[in-house]
Amino acid sequence: MKPKIYITRKIPDEIVNKLEQECQVRMWEESEAPVPREVLEKEVADIDGLYCLLTESVDKDLLDKATSLKVVSNMAVGYNNIDIDAAAEKGITVTNTPGVLTETTADLTFALLMATARRIVEASDYLKNGDWKTWSPMQLTGQDIFGATLGIIGMGRIGEAVARRARGFDMEVLYNNRSRKPKVEEELGTTYVAMEDLLRQSDFVCILAPYTPETENLITAKELALMKETAILINTARGGIVNETDLYEALKNKQIWAAGIDTFEKEPIDLENPLLKLDNIVTLPHIGSASIKTRMKMADLAADNLLSVLFSEKPQNVIV
Ligand code: GLV
Repeated sequence: MKPKIYITRKIPDEIVNKLEQECQVRMWEESEAPVPREVLEKEVADIDGLYCLLTESVDKDLLDKATSLKVVSNMAVGYNNIDIDAAAEKGITVTNTPGVLTETTADLTFALLMATARRIVEASDYLKNGDWKTWSPMQLTGQDIFGATLGIIGMGRIGEAVARRARGFDMEVLYNNRSRKPKVEEELGTTYVAMEDLLRQSDFVCILAPYTPETENLITAKELALMKETAILINTARGGIVNETDLYEALKNKQIWAAGIDTFEKEPIDLENPLLKLDNIVTLPHIGSASIKTRMKMADLAADNLLSVLFSEKPQNVIV
């Protein structure tokens, strides 16, 4: 008997076909709406494998309802949506999709940094709204990117890829990380500094750390107060790392110059969220890895990971 699996969102047909060769597949057939929790709770009862997205909370309650589950394959590199300890306790393997999205996410991080520094979205709206009456010396002026100091919080794969891009802009790159990375320092000319120094010295503070109990609320009023008045905060990691109430105050009071934010505490963000009323923020709907090629690679890798746990002795990309 083929193992049973459940896919929590409509994924490309070719990936479904590949999974169907080896498994009995059930799938939530919608692409733009997440599977309701009650449906997911019923679906997990008899499955061997769960193929899920970062929109699903795979918590202990859900895992308790799954009596034969062997693998949770997350189609994302971040896995803060999964209770890893509860999975480990039950002997359920959890996998993610590292590597394939590194460069695409670094591209978006740099795009957001540039869009925020040079007020690209605001300038485009300015033109379309008919506000462009003349060229003027200080009209829509922003911050320089070339030669600026970039502070990277979290020097993992994506941090490194962003640092590599920064070299092309003659930026000085500082970083803070759980551990020092001598190889990255040597190869990319980055400098390890204490968090406070990074916040004080950087023109751009870029968050690229995983979301863990240690990084939750890492950036609060205290950290924002250390940043330059001309500094820009970029977050393409996870919303919970930055305290949004404190960020709102810092942006409103011009304590920092601007922010470019791709990830929020609550996603999708409430349209009432005061951050959306500010001019000095560029907001994106969590699109760091959203290129066609990369999303296909992530979908495929999540399928391979799931199959590797169910069928091989050498499972791939195992977290626990
Ligand atoms: C996206 O945010 C991911 O973790 O892959």
